[in-house]
Parts: sequence; structure tokens; C-alpha cells
Amino acid sequence: MSEVRFDDRVAVVTGAGGGLGRAHALLLASRGAKVVVNDLGGSRDGDGASSNMADKVVDEIKAAGGEAVANYDGVDTYAGGENIIKTAVDAFGKVDIVIANAGILRDRAFHNLEEADWDKIFAVHVKGSFNVIQPAFRLMRQQNYGRIIVTTSNAGLYGNFGQANYSSAKTALLGLASTLELEGAKYNIKANVIAPVAASRLTEDVMPPAVLEKLRPEFVSPVVAYLCSEECQISGNIFTAGGGYVGRAAIVESKGAVLPDISIEAVRDNIDKISDMTGAEEFTNAFDEVSKRLASATAVS
Ligand code: NAI
Repeated sequence: MSEVRFDDRVAVVTGAGGGLGRAHALLLASRGAKVVVNDLGGSRDGDGASSNMADKVVDEIKAAGGEAVANYDGVDTYAGGENIIKTAVDAFGKVDIVIANAGILRDRAFHNLEEADWDKIFAVHVKGSFNVIQPAFRLMRQQNYGRIIVTTSNAGLYGNFGQANYSSAKTALLGLASTLELEGAKYNIKANVIAPVAASRLTEDVMPPAVLEKLRPEFVSPVVAYLCSEECQISGNIFTAGGGYVGRAAIVESKGAVLPDISIEAVRDNIDKISDMTGAEEFTNAFDEVSKRLASATAVS
């Protein structure tokens, strides 16, 4: 079996000072990638900063014979994102892979959510992905190569009590990857989404220890690494992974119903047909969806 390698590839992993990001960074480095280990080193809810977390992972990579440099910028400012990518270019000359993984939590039931909790979550997860990916994407277009991962969550795919801010932010990343798939296609830039489940400081108090034991981040990183490999030609897809399970999630649309004489009552009377997911389809872009669905309507009217 041929081994998947990342020799001569430069990877940036945000939030790589612990949890999933650390595992992604260690795995890529063990397969030859030169890695920028970014981590702000703050608390679980996004306060504070420290260089310790990123430094520790860089030391681990080096001790195992790999190459890595640390970066301590917050992903939540554009200048931070630019500097993270600059760190890769200064140290290793380019950037081939970006794994936007940094994340925090500020969970509260929706009625108790404060504006600052909404804004901070969006700043780190959504703007933080943009801040790092855009400067890298520009370089990837020039070099005709790139692999990008954004990190969603099952909360972003399906919702979760107490996580209105987080789940909304995580869903936003699906749109980002779908559009990067389209805008990157001509330049051999692939963008995919990972929805992980893993034991980390974000989940240590939401699952029992026996379950956490089975959810080591190392079960997720091979999926991420494959999606970052040169041989991976998949783009715009969502993968779910945890505890040894790997799957694909997708946004699909029902065949629907054509209602030429549409009215509130026609919608009511056809709601089962509209909602029936038998034969539901995936679309690769917004234009295809609109053309196909409207074509079926025009064919009838
Ligand atoms: P973690 O807390 O161990 O890792 C997140 C890292 O991001 C931390 O080391 C933190 O210091 C860093 N970070 C936070 N804000 C930052 C910023 N502004 N700039 C740079 N670094 C920053 O948590 P975990 O679980 O490894 O999370 C990684 C990603 O996976 C997050 O995006 C999280 O939302 C996502 N995720 C995790 C799940 C899980 O089961 N652990 C489930 C679904 C999604």
C-alpha cells in the first residue's frame, strides 16, 4: 500500500496548540509536511493569550523529527490571518494547505445569549476562517495548488440546544467551502469541510470519560489529512468523523411539487409531497439548483 505523503508541502493549522488541531499538525508533520502551528493560547471561551500551547506542539513535532514553526496570532483579526500566512511564507516559502480549525465556545440558551457571545463566536469561527484562508487562497491561485479545510460541527449541520451562536457560525462555513470549491476549481484548489467529534477541552464536560476515551482526536486527523493530500480530488464536500466512524453529509433538496396555481391552500394541500425526500438531490452550485427546479416548473405551466 503506497503511503500518502506531504513532502515539500507547507501546511498551516490554526488552533493547533491542542485538541484536534494538534493531532492534525502532528500527523501532517509525521508524513513530511512543514507545518505552521498557530494558536492564540487563550481560554476555552476566547479570553487571554499565551505562546505556550503552540510552542509545545512545535517541540513535539521537532522531537519526532519533523519541521514546524509556531505562530501566536488570533485568527479573529485580518492582520492576524495575514501574519499566520506570512509566517508560512517566511519560514517555508509558500503555503499549500490551510486547516481552519481554531475555535471557542460561548454556549447559552438563545434567550440568554448576549450580543458579545454572538459576535465573538462569529469572529473566531467565521471571520477567523476568512482571515486565514483569503491570503492563502490568493497565493494558492498563483501557484495553481491548494487544499483547504474548514471545521464545522454536528451542531452546525443539525443544531444543538444552547449553541445558537456556535451552530450558526459553523453552518456559515458550509457556504464558504461550497463557494471556494467553485472559485478554486480552475486552480486545483480543493476546499472541504470536516465535522469532527473528539475529546478535547471543548467537549471534556459534555461527555462522560468512558465515551471521551473512545473519541481521541487521532481518529479524525486521517480524514482531514486525506482531504489535504494531492491525490484527493474531492472538493466542496462535508465529512463527519469521530471514534473511527467516517461519513459524508450533504445538503439535499426534495423533488418537490410544482404548483402553477400556487396559493396558501395549495401549499397546505401539497406539504407532504413538497417535504418528501424520496429521490432528493444534491446540487453543485446555486445556478444548477435554480435552473433545474425552475425548468420543472416551466415545463408544466
Ligand atoms: P480545542 O479547544 O482543544 O482547540 C481549539 C484551539 O483553538 C485551542 O487550542 C485554542 O487555543 C485555539 N484558538 C481559539 N481561539 C483562537 C484564535 N482566535 N486564534 C487562534 N487560535 C485560537 O478544541 P477542539 O475540540 O480541538 O476544536 C477544534 C475545532 O473543532 C473547533 O473549531 C471546534 O469548534 C471544532 N469541533 C470540535 C468538536 C469536538 O468534538 N471536539 C465537535 C465539532 C467541532
